[in-house]
Amino acid sequence: MIGAAKDGIAISITGLGCKVPDRVVTNDDLKQYVDTTDEWIRERTGIRERRMASRDEALSDIALPASRDALEQAGVEGKDIDLLIVATVTPDMSFPSTGAILADKLGAVDAAAYDLSAGCTGFMYALAQAYGMLAGGLAKRALVVGGDLLSRILDWEDRSTLVLFGDGAGAVVIEAVPERGFLGFELGADGAGGASLWLPGSGSRIFDEPERFVKMNGREVFKFATRILVQSAQNVMERCGVTIDDIDVYVPHQANMRIIDHATRKLGVPSEKVVINVDRYGNTSSGSIPLALADAAQDGRLKPGKLVLMTGMGAGLTWGSALIRWTKEMTPA
Ligand code: UT7
Repeated sequence: MIGAAKDGIAISITGLGCKVPDRVVTNDDLKQYVDTTDEWIRERTGIRERRMASRDEALSDIALPASRDALEQAGVEGKDIDLLIVATVTPDMSFPSTGAILADKLGAVDAAAYDLSAGCTGFMYALAQAYGMLAGGLAKRALVVGGDLLSRILDWEDRSTLVLFGDGAGAVVIEAVPERGFLGFELGADGAGGASLWLPGSGSRIFDEPERFVKMNGREVFKFATRILVQSAQNVMERCGVTIDDIDVYVPHQANMRIIDHATRKLGVPSEKVVINVDRYGNTSSGSIPLALADAAQDGRLKPGKLVLMTGMGAGLTWGSALIRWTKEMTPA
């Protein structure tokens, strides 16, 4: 699915917030669980440390402060939100949705609230969906949250996955603005690759050997990621009539530094335009892109007028890109 925003429809991000759990887990800390080294993890992934939730924290506890910051920055309250989407594969529970839980905590009494599942691409899907509902007149102001506590579904004895992921969430408010913000989206899925990154036994299909933990074919996902990050970005740029030289800030999914380096090189993005947080947070799944946006806002790169390219990819296998002309100065707390 690909599309440029319709002329005359100006919708943008007006608030941005993020939150990671306080507990820092270093590469050395993981050596007590699996046979690994700090050197291997840094060389193969670029990750130095990640954040992990404590026992009493669920996704909504991490998403709540991120959402409050986003609302505050947009200058609105929970009651002003009429659409709330939480992109995640680790909701507090299957139901009620974390969207509904969060809407209650925020006082978003009139909001349609639900969860969306598209693996690590969830935030991109949710952004596009919220954009579409606003553009179609179904909603006026949306809160879009991307977040995961992947540590809850990792096998703490599997070194090939344990070292990669971390916990965190980000949130944005999107609404109508005077000048055009979102320029276009591209989303896709290839279900044939689903078994490269999955959690069999987590739903209604009965498996002989159900899994409680993420299973991943790292090499397959690596190949997919390096191809799709480039292809999806090129597709959305072409559809919107911009080139890589027009891009001011590039926000790729934070899966692995080697994957980001590959995409950056192939696309031809200078390194100073690339936002990186995988070194500090690992792969935070649906939280990865909004957390990176918050970093870019904090370090002063997200100025009004800047053209931002975001591309996510993940379980499904799914992918999604968005182009947005940043419209507002903001510094997340
Ligand atoms: O949002 C999407 C989520 N997933 C991803 O993005 C994952 C994409 N894939 C990757 O990032 C990489 O494939 C990995 C980081 C998972 C693995 O890197 P790799 O360079 O593809 O390593 P490999 O799987 O080819 O393994 C190389 C070696 C193996 O040992 P042998 O068979 O050569 O003796 C692994 O057993 O490294 C070993 N290994 C480790 N060694 C130390 C695998 N994990 C570890 C580890 N510590 N944590």
